[in-house]
Amino acid sequence: MNNYKLKELAAKSAIKYVIPNSIIGIGTGTTVSFFIRFLKEIKHLIQGAVSSSLTSSKLLRKIGIKLFDLNDVSSLSIYVDGADEINPKMQMIKGGGNALTKEKIIAAVAKKFICIIDENKQVKVLGKFPLSIEVIPMACSYVISELNKLGGFSKKRKNVITDNGNYIIEVHKLKILNPILMEEKINSIAGVVTVGIFAKRPADIVLIGSSDGLKTNINY
Ligand code: 5RP
Repeated sequence: MNNYKLKELAAKSAIKYVIPNSIIGIGTGTTVSFFIRFLKEIKHLIQGAVSSSLTSSKLLRKIGIKLFDLNDVSSLSIYVDGADEINPKMQMIKGGGNALTKEKIIAAVAKKFICIIDENKQVKVLGKFPLSIEVIPMACSYVISELNKLGGFSKKRKNVITDNGNYIIEVHKLKILNPILMEEKINSIAGVVTVGIFAKRPADIVLIGSSDGLKTNINY
């Protein structure tokens, strides 16, 4: 099976976790785009969604799903999103689609984080995939110099302005042996809006599209 088929398999299997009558959180990326397509079939069962990006909002609007502002919502039953990498503790690198800040906010609010991935996203140690960090534009050079002290090689992602009007820095070849500590360290650099390490709030359920079929990891 090719990668897209594996993503589609994971996305399809997330539909059974949708809780009727609730509002759900929606991530960003190719795997989530598959999920949105399947969600169309059961859209009458949910009140609507909170979206993590303009791209996902457009797809959700197109299939007639009502969008809510997170500030107007008392709870989110689930958050469905992909990942760039995930380790056995269900800690992730996210942000390959530049939507990490809203993704982290929605993941924090949701009762359950359901991560949908193809099997190639699984790693023992996070850091092979470039780590995304959203920064306030005026702090870009300063943040890069601070990140260089932590290891790896940092550079500004070319031609990207996030939905929030900020830049993305990507860190290459950073071996993240202690994801929680690294998340805290990078988040404390002045000018950093969000680091794409999701370790303090890992996934609760991981649905993995693999060449042997669907695999599920549950963490609660
Ligand atoms: C977007 C993300 C995505 O979840 C991540 O990049 C995975 O994307 P895809 O499903 O296209 O492989 O974090 O910011």
